[in-house]
Amino acid sequence: MNKNEAKKQIKKLCDEINHHNYKYYVENNPVISDYEYDMLLKKLETLEAEFPDLITPDSPTQRIGGEPLKGFKSVEHKIAMLSLDNAYSYNELRDFDERVKKNVSDVEYVCEPKIDGISISLIYENGLFVRGATRGDGIKGDDVTANLRTIHSIPLRLQGSELQNAEVRGEVYFPITAFKKFNKEQEKKGEQVFANPRNAAAGSLRQLDPRIVGTRPLDTFLYYITYSESDLQTQEQSLEILRKAGFRVNPLIKKVHNIEEATKFCADLEAKRESLDYEIDGVVLKVNSFSQQKELGSTIKHPRWAIAFKFTAKQATTRLNDIVVQVGRTGTLTPVAILEPVQVGGVTVSRATLHNFDELKRKDIRIGDMVLVERSGDVIPQVVKSIIEKRKGDEKARAIPKKCPVCRSDVIRTSDEVAVRCPNKECPARLKWRIEYFASRDAMDIDHLGGQTIDKLIEKGFVDTIADLYGLTKEDLLTLEGFKDKSVENLLESIEKSKHQGLARLIYGLGIRHVGKFAAQLLASQYHSIDELAKKTAEELTQIHGLGEKTAEAIATFFATEENIELINKLKDIGIRTKEVKKEGHLVGKKFVFTGGLVSLSRPDASDLVMKNGGMVSSAIGKDIDYVVVGTEPGSKYEKAKKLGLVLIDENEFKKLVGVT
Ligand code: IVH
Repeated sequence: MNKNEAKKQIKKLCDEINHHNYKYYVENNPVISDYEYDMLLKKLETLEAEFPDLITPDSPTQRIGGEPLKGFKSVEHKIAMLSLDNAYSYNELRDFDERVKKNVSDVEYVCEPKIDGISISLIYENGLFVRGATRGDGIKGDDVTANLRTIHSIPLRLQGSELQNAEVRGEVYFPITAFKKFNKEQEKKGEQVFANPRNAAAGSLRQLDPRIVGTRPLDTFLYYITYSESDLQTQEQSLEILRKAGFRVNPLIKKVHNIEEATKFCADLEAKRESLDYEIDGVVLKVNSFSQQKELGSTIKHPRWAIAFKFTAKQATTRLNDIVVQVGRTGTLTPVAILEPVQVGGVTVSRATLHNFDELKRKDIRIGDMVLVERSGDVIPQVVKSIIEKRKGDEKARAIPKKCPVCRSDVIRTSDEVAVRCPNKECPARLKWRIEYFASRDAMDIDHLGGQTIDKLIEKGFVDTIADLYGLTKEDLLTLEGFKDKSVENLLESIEKSKHQGLARLIYGLGIRHVGKFAAQLLASQYHSIDELAKKTAEELTQIHGLGEKTAEAIATFFATEENIELINKLKDIGIRTKEVKKEGHLVGKKFVFTGGLVSLSRPDASDLVMKNGGMVSSAIGKDIDYVVVGTEPGSKYEKAKKLGLVLIDENEFKKLVGVT
């Protein structure tokens, strides 16, 4: 292909992909399959690789920048980013309306959800996205252009010709469902979890490596054009122009004709609040007409033509009546606040987590304190801080317990860990968690065995170890409150079925510290039986590629403990499969590593497909890996795999290999 032809092709592909990108990320209405989209992108990448000087800044391949930044440049906003005056009741909204009507007549308002995200400014020159910044102090913010480029709903080039040179403003947010999933994954990896979606959005935008930001599912709503060459008359019209230019504009926005309609909008939206996949903390009411806005003007802090009606806060203050200690699966002791029941954003809260004893000490939270409680993104309510000014002097600090509150064993605390733990493996509190973990979906997958049932089983003295689950009888279960013939039968059936789940799930289900799903599979494929595994020393275990020292130590310690060996022997007697059956399938002996995102499959589903065909999945690259599945935005594993000359396959090749199309 000659260069001229390539240029045309590249332009055509860019336009086409950007269009589909818009359909997918802004309109949420894709018109081609993910596969077709990937193929277009791939075609573009190939052409661009051949003609690198034809790569344009608005090419969809250019969303993820290269190197991590050293820090953010501070940039001055051309027009200060003001904040809004607040109203906490409908009467305050009516007062606002009165003030407005003193100066202008025939007012219409635009009612917009107040998105609880991070405000941003985006600058476009000749239709191209050239700079994006955070609000900062309103005068100066951080230049986060590279990070914002990774957000798919931000157009790199504006659509149409109405906006060319403009600044637009709006919010970046972390969708709630994605936030919950993200936090769970972070927790599993032992990485930072965020208190709420807003913090997660802020933390993501503060990342210095745009490649990491690219993996975060951030989204946007835009609502304000500060300047442009368009002759705009109203807010309603601005929103329409924003929409046409390719931005995401909130679909719930509504124009109203008087303040009573506005209060109705507020009430309706507040009722809808919990059903949205983004957090809102109120409604922004804006005078629609720009000439009226101009007439009303601004104070140094905020415009007089707009006001933020704040919903009932998801924060509340209440008295902290007690601090109790909960014991987790691995024996970790967690302080929990017992609160004077209080309404927080429509839900009564009487308990809140205090995370750990270090944090308790750092925040100096005491029994008897008035505390600020927050509920956000449906995470467990938490105590934000104590209100020191309200102390009377009789509040009591909670010392780190010396004994486990459940079994009275002396607690232990290793110097490198924040956690305080109960060392007693048979502590009833730990037993509950261990059973719950053993029965969980990724482990033995025992249906109908939830937390409450486990509590009852322990209470009645039916189970002292995991193995006792397999000795439960119909008569035992019928004595449990709420259990009838059918539910008993279901539970017994699930328990029986779990005996054949296989070695990897069993190893995982034992809940050995640091042994996650990958490590469990790795061990199962390496040693073929639990007896083999139990014989290995930590040193031998570290020889397995992909297994860290800490994990190896933890495994060796686990099998050096007499109770654990007893448990394993019992499980074997019961007839639980503790040997790896000879694997079948055309991928037996083949090891896979995934890097980057998959488009049409989830990672767990992809791993399952590998295992169903007899293969196994590893998390670390090494010479022994047979296939490296390279997804979108692959990380360092990809580089390493290339260096080692491993076989690289893409998602479609992978799907063919495991027999799905
Ligand atoms: S208008 C001068 N509209 O709320 C008017 N702000 O305290 C500028 N916000 O900093 C803001 N949703 O981050 C406006 N639909 C919306 C909004 C909104 C959220 C945030 C914004 C601003 C803060 C105002």
